[in-house]
Amino acid sequence: MSTQPVVQVEDLDVYYGTSQILFGVGLSVQPGETMALLGRNGAGKSTTMKAIMGLAPARRGRVTLHGRVVSGLKPYHIARAGLGFVPEDRQIFPDHTVEDNLVIGRKKGPDGQDEWPVKRIYDVFPLLEPLRYRVAGRLSGGEQQMLAIARTLMGNPALLLLDEPSEGLAPIIVQRIGELLRQLRGSGATVLIAEQNMHFCLGLASHATVIDKGQIVYSASIEDLKANDSIRQRYLAL
Ligand SMILES: Nc1ncnc2c1ncn2[C@@H]1O[C@H](COP(=O)(O)OP(=O)(O)O)[C@@H](O)[C@H]1O
Ligand SMILES: [Mg+2]
Repeated sequence: MSTQPVVQVEDLDVYYGTSQILFGVGLSVQPGETMALLGRNGAGKSTTMKAIMGLAPARRGRVTLHGRVVSGLKPYHIARAGLGFVPEDRQIFPDHTVEDNLVIGRKKGPDGQDEWPVKRIYDVFPLLEPLRYRVAGRLSGGEQQMLAIARTLMGNPALLLLDEPSEGLAPIIVQRIGELLRQLRGSGATVLIAEQNMHFCLGLASHATVIDKGQIVYSASIEDLKANDSIRQRYLAL
């Protein structure tokens, strides 16, 4: 018996103006999986994330969340339906405190879930607690990334989408964020991470999907990817 995916993406075509960027992109994420969407710079990872969120309109294809079609809805409604997106530029409120940023993100999940009170956030993100009254614009890049993830969790998403969470951060911070995402996976969260940094994902994802030139070229378990030299060489080597 197969379980229903949390999110299923089918046959997405996306254009920017007249140039086609995504070609029939499909992927699905099962409950409790951490799916890495891997590919080189310009492969179409961010566009895929934006298309799922309704921020980049798809000309063809559909996105379903727990079997319900959400493509075609406004981004706000897609977020309400249970997709929590942390974009590449993080979009925290720089003039507000850490705690205000968290509280701004608070909402119940699509089925009334209220699993992320501020106290749990500080348990999972202990670095944020002593910074709670600090203005978010003063935080380091790594702290801002943690805040952006924490704020999105405050919205009790059924699926957390992270666009390049390791980008531009020092190796030690990348490691901390990796630990945090492993911990989230352990707590049963369902996550889709777009990353250029395959090594960052190898230790924390359960599955991998590889995109190249706007097309999905591979999808399997993370163990399969680790064992598959040719896919790694062909699509992921720098
Ligand atoms: N706003 C845009 N307008 C036109 N082309 C874009 C825009 N954003 C991205 N692209 C192009 O779409 C392709 C995929 O980009 P993107 O999804 O950002 O890739 P990735 O996130 O994998 O680096 C690239 O060729 C990029 O130049
Ligand atoms: Mg990107």
